[in-house]
Amino acid sequence: MKNVKINWPNKKSSNCSAGVDWLKAAYDANIEIPTGCLGGSCGACEIEVNGEVVRACIATVPNKEELNVEFFSDPYW
Ligand code: FES
Repeated sequence: MKNVKINWPNKKSSNCSAGVDWLKAAYDANIEIPTGCLGGSCGACEIEVNGEVVRACIATVPNKEELNVEFFSDPYW
């Protein structure tokens, strides 16, 4: 599996294999992604990956060289 570099919102970066669950990738990097339903329906875990909104609990790290992650902040939460 390809090694992917992930740049997290706190300016840290980590490496993980493509295809790993986002929550696992975050955990390994000591990043906490908020979660709720863990089933893809509530949106609590949304992050932005290279500008695209992804639900972290049901998505895996795509096969790219480098990814920039931002937390998707919803002001109404
Ligand atoms: S935790 Fe609910 S959509 Fe991911």
